[in-house]
Amino acid sequence: MRIAVGSDHRGYAIRGKLLTLLRGLGHEVIDVGSHTSDPVDYPDIAEKVGRKVTGGEVDRGVLVCGTGLGMSIAANKIPGVRAAACLDDLMAEISRRHNDANVLCLPADLVGQKSIDRIIETWLNTPFEGGRHARRVAKIRALEEKVACQMDRQKE
Ligand code: RB5
Repeated sequence: MRIAVGSDHRGYAIRGKLLTLLRGLGHEVIDVGSHTSDPVDYPDIAEKVGRKVTGGEVDRGVLVCGTGLGMSIAANKIPGVRAAACLDDLMAEISRRHNDANVLCLPADLVGQKSIDRIIETWLNTPFEGGRHARRVAKIRALEEKVACQMDRQKE
């Protein structure tokens, strides 16, 4: 898979191991930074990764911040992104099976390296179940379009 990876300064400490793990699993990694531990604003990184996913440049995205929350909130503003903040491998599994999550957001401050590794491997290896979940995911897409249309109409 082609995977875009981005982290803010909180995620910087684990990003090296993350890149090594993904490459070791045979994935092609597109690293959008941040490349130093200097403070950066997580929405800027989330936007870079999210746009690569929705633009088809990569298959999936992985984002890291302190909690995974800021990254997921920001990335989910991009239509077509289904970003999931996952604290354990069960959340990772269900985010794929039920939500067809295309961006994984990891909490560098809240879980240890072994858990991070398990979350990533589970998330990458779990397929989307489809069926009734496909109907629900389609409704998320429809909701994005409905909100965009309403905003356009408000501008007129
Ligand atoms: C940065 O200090 C921190 O707010 C960020 O890494 C993230 O946890 C936000 O949700």
